[in-house]
Amino acid sequence: MVAHSAPRLTDKKLTRVPTHVAIIMDGNGRWASQRGLSRQAGHRAGTENIRRVIEAFAERGVEYLTLFAFSTENWGRPRKEVDALLRLLGRVINREINTLHENGIRLRHVGRLNPLSPRLQKKVQEAIELTKNNRRMTVSVAFNYGGRAEILDAVRRIVADGLTPERIDEGVFRSYLYTADLPDPDLIIRTAGELRISNFLLWQSAYAEYYATPTYWPDFDAAEIDRALEVYSHRQRRFGLVRAGARPSDRPPPPKTARRPPVGADPPLAEGKDSGDRAASS
Ligand code: FPP
Repeated sequence: MVAHSAPRLTDKKLTRVPTHVAIIMDGNGRWASQRGLSRQAGHRAGTENIRRVIEAFAERGVEYLTLFAFSTENWGRPRKEVDALLRLLGRVINREINTLHENGIRLRHVGRLNPLSPRLQKKVQEAIELTKNNRRMTVSVAFNYGGRAEILDAVRRIVADGLTPERIDEGVFRSYLYTADLPDPDLIIRTAGELRISNFLLWQSAYAEYYATPTYWPDFDAAEIDRALEVYSHRQRRFGLVRAGARPSDRPPPPKTARRPPVGADPPLAEGKDSGDRAASS
């Protein structure tokens, strides 16, 4: 007799799987205080959950997963908590990198690495280097990440490269973001019940679908993932177009200029003709 595993929700109902899921992992502190534990214990439990969530999304065919682990604003938390989060980043790399690598996961970082200690920066860089050719899923860890800081960094680099205003369009701008080689997120999940974006992927989330759950991050499990993916599969995405004209796929039309032009190159084509974001938002 052939053994069958129990059918997953995804086996029955999913019609579309998002290519890129991004998650605001919130609620570690509340999870811990409900149990009389320290906030640091909550972050440890949250870190444990990351491994399970990566595997679950990879199994469901998601190609890109971006996790908001530490924001540019989080430096303002108590010193003890900031130190614990920095230590956790190092530990999670030490403990998980080989398993991630064996499972075909490519690791990326989004944000600014420079305020981290040289040792921690090196650890992150080595993990990125080790996994750079893996193709099953790309996991981007947003650590010391802020959407506004990212946009400012892009503007600074555009100015430093000497680009004139007429050469800057959406495709060029995108190529200066930390996420230049990633598709925009299709689905942004926030755990722990808050309904705000908290400076996460501000540019990239223009047409993302949002999903919020009251579940605290350490408890966000495979059943929760299936629920989020099911809700997403029933969303109608329009990318600013009317229903009848909406593209059948999940992807907006590609920007006219997708690559950074070499400094001194001819200006790109005028913007507006073929841009996916040309119509008013719906
Ligand atoms: C929010 O919980 C969580 C974070 C500060 C980011 C998520 C961090 C982890 C999952 C652990 C660290 C991960 C890595 C990769 C180092 P909160 O403290 O804001 O919860 P609260 O709102 O209930 O207080």
